[in-house]
Amino acid sequence: MDKKKIVFSGIQPTGNTHLGNYLGAIRNWAARQAEKTNYFCVVDLHSLTVPQDPENLRFQTRSMAAILLACGIDPQQSTLFIQSHVAAHTEGCWLLNCVTPLGWLQRMTQFKDKSARQESVLTGLLDYPVLMAGDILFYDADEVPVGEDQKQHVELTRDIAQRFNALYNVEFFVVPQPIIPPVGARVMGLDDPAVKMSKSLADKRGHAVRLLDPPDEILYAFKRAVTDSGREIRFSDDPEKAGVNNLLGIYQAVTGKGQAEVEADFAAARGYGDLKVGVAEAVIETLRPIQARYHDLMADTAELDRLLAHGAAQARVISQPKVDEMKRMMGLVLPR
Ligand code: TYM
Repeated sequence: MDKKKIVFSGIQPTGNTHLGNYLGAIRNWAARQAEKTNYFCVVDLHSLTVPQDPENLRFQTRSMAAILLACGIDPQQSTLFIQSHVAAHTEGCWLLNCVTPLGWLQRMTQFKDKSARQESVLTGLLDYPVLMAGDILFYDADEVPVGEDQKQHVELTRDIAQRFNALYNVEFFVVPQPIIPPVGARVMGLDDPAVKMSKSLADKRGHAVRLLDPPDEILYAFKRAVTDSGREIRFSDDPEKAGVNNLLGIYQAVTGKGQAEVEADFAAARGYGDLKVGVAEAVIETLRPIQARYHDLMADTAELDRLLAHGAAQARVISQPKVDEMKRMMGLVLPR
């Protein structure tokens, strides 16, 4: 039997987890767990790259873990852990910093976008993709399932891995592949289909559908979704029809139907109003059982913490020896 592929992916516990995170990432992690060796990480250290309220970050970190479990991440099949519980990530990040040229980080589009919006940019924000590269490389991951917006960071991870291997003349790091889903890789904002749905904009009512939003809020967001002045309900690349295209894409992703079937479902619709309600209902039904499981899990945080401690112990066994070996290769004296 072929060795199972190793999968690593992460998500920031910044709250406002939305439909884009679910369709672009989380549900794809859950769907393929049985075929793979999986590591899923709540990347709390990445969240510190922009200012956070400490109490809120602590709450959101547990909440994120509960959301992942509620979405079907199975601790029997996957190692689920909190990034800061595994010291190898920060230790190894320093080592990777010392083989990563600054120019590579300055070119990252996410850094350019995020830093342009802030007056004071933290060093951690620039270094963020190196921490992410370590996450992936210290587990020898073959595959990194992410949404479209993280593709550049996975490509940088590949560059860092290849550079380390070349510098030390070793086949030490596995060069990972980004796995981008064919549908749902870039869910756009409901209030503006020209920008991607994002956690940082999700406090604005009507921008995002958050996984924990009650049904009436979800219906409200879809009913207010920006469309166009036409009536035609079909998939299209026309920027004018980006709003309708986004709604159809969301419906396609949550129902698992093909494009023709999706268009057929709305062939009798009297206008965009019917489309919006139809998509909202499909999303509400998808999220209903997830929300119920989430509330059960958050009712017993002691059990959640126990589970996360177990995940961290499993993660340490893999990543710490990898980082120790890296230290040796780079010329550090290992303690006896
Ligand atoms: P984060 O927390 O911003 O997002 C988590 C996942 O959700 C995807 N995503 C989307 N997919 C479709 N449409 C959208 N509108 C949308 N918005 C977000 C993201 O692509 C991502 O897959 N740097 C990462 C976390 C990370 C990581 C890693 C990922 C840290 N270490 C190692 C993979 C491997 C991030 O901030 O994701």
